[in-house]
Amino acid sequence: MHNLATVHTPGTAELHPRPSLVAEPAITIRRAQLVDVLQLAALVNGYAAQRLLLPRTTEQVALALDNYVVAVDAGGRVLACAALEEYSPSVAEIASVAVDRAFQGHGLGSQVVAAAEQVARQRGFVQVFAMSLAERFFRALGYDTIPIEAYPEKMARYERLVAEGVDIVPKDCFAKSIA
Ligand SMILES: CC(C)(COP(=O)(O)OP(=O)(O)OC[C@H]1O[C@@H](n2cnc3c(N)ncnc32)[C@H](O)[C@@H]1OP(=O)(O)O)[C@@H](O)C(=O)NCCC(=O)NCCS
Repeated sequence: MHNLATVHTPGTAELHPRPSLVAEPAITIRRAQLVDVLQLAALVNGYAAQRLLLPRTTEQVALALDNYVVAVDAGGRVLACAALEEYSPSVAEIASVAVDRAFQGHGLGSQVVAAAEQVARQRGFVQVFAMSLAERFFRALGYDTIPIEAYPEKMARYERLVAEGVDIVPKDCFAKSIA
């Protein structure tokens, strides 16, 4: 199933090199750049419309660009992304994990999460957590289920968003030590 072509990860360790079995353009996992902003917001908001992710405006993405990692093809098309959000000096949230539907099931989701974890380590975080319905995905990446009560500020943020009228589906919380 995981048969996309060579993945280059400049600035990060070789994450999950996968053998190339088909002729596909090379895919690069890298930190996001300004040129990615519109595609990033579109990718995330496509899933936000299904309430799988929280919506992000292009302005929010642009302002937090340094927190995003992307998978792009040779033509600069954004195929997948993940974002890191500081929760506390030692804990960060992995958010906005999204893979273009046509490219799911090839390991790109795993690789952008691994790249975001790498950025988290570089920034000195020792634990990451994620809110998601994709239990099998996060478990496969070494995350354990944890009560959301472990992150009271996250709960408070959800409550604020609900009060603002954002439609939020209750999700499970997953955490992983990256120390
Ligand atoms: C969840 C998502 C990011 C997975 O991306 P992907 O590139 O298809 O995942 P991978 O190919 O890296 O799969 C890794 C493992 O996760 C599991 N998995 C994949 N997609 C899954 C999904 N939608 N739900 C649950 N588990 C999933 C599989 O067990 C897979 O293991 P395998 O390789 O042994 O089959 C992708 O389906 C997506 O964009 N979903 C919509 C947005 C979303 O729900 N994001 C997560 C919330 S932060």
